[in-house]
Amino acid sequence: MRIVLVGPPGAGKGTQAQFLAKELSIPHISTGDLFRANISQGTPLGLEAQKYMKAGRLVPDEVTIGMARDRLGQPDAAAGFLLDGFPRNLHQAKVLDEVLAAEGIALDAVLDLEVPEEEVVKRIAGRRICRRDSSHVFHVDYSAPRQEGVCDECGGELYQREDDREDTVRTRLEEYYNLTEPIIGYYRAQGLVSTISALGKVSEVTERALLALREKA
Ligand code: AP5
Ligand code: ZN
Repeated sequence: MRIVLVGPPGAGKGTQAQFLAKELSIPHISTGDLFRANISQGTPLGLEAQKYMKAGRLVPDEVTIGMARDRLGQPDAAAGFLLDGFPRNLHQAKVLDEVLAAEGIALDAVLDLEVPEEEVVKRIAGRRICRRDSSHVFHVDYSAPRQEGVCDECGGELYQREDDREDTVRTRLEEYYNLTEPIIGYYRAQGLVSTISALGKVSEVTERALLALREKA
């Protein structure tokens, strides 16, 4: 399946994507993780992206679209993918449609994770991620690692993302409501959107997501 995951910062997109990708045997493609990997390797793309991410703003399309295109062109994405964090504005959504149409394919589903703002703020405040692999995500209260500060999956050090500070989170939420949320209407017009509540246990949300996705398959 070809799926786009959408929802405000901290909704649990990365957390759900890990389980959904495994269950559906498709790669999890997160533009946020791709940017963070570039930042830790000190690439020119990473240095450029970091300026915007630090401030909670979207990275410009000229940088983001090329990177997403390259990743989608890799062989493991040929039979399906779970996109997390891309597209993030209407222009990116339209370019994605064009890229897929050129291959004679299209999206199957857009999964919209709904979470009230107060919950998002709590989730972000307690989030800790792994220095070795930013897709390893924990929460100090809701999904604490076995040993404080240490990643259960690879033993890497856990830290708080620089853009998870309160003032930056506010900017990220504004960017989401102003620029990203409109893509839901765009996809709704194509009959692709399933909106589910992302409240409750991680496993409950995964079950809800799989049910919704099976209807679109
Ligand atoms: P990105 O990394 O995509 O960040 P985001 O969209 O803000 O999403 P988050 O990673 O904050 O949250 P999430 O929904 O994945 O939540 P998570 O699973 O971690 O983007 C970062 C930046 O990169 C952007 O600001 C932008 O600058 C740039 N960027 C990326 N893509 C771009 C694009 N396409 N165009 C332009 N710029 C782009 O969960 C959050 C916490 O909650 C965790 O601690 C988790 O353990 C916990 N949790 C999860 N589920 C539950 C649950 N059910 N109950 C309790 N706790 C839970
Ligand atoms: Zn790790």
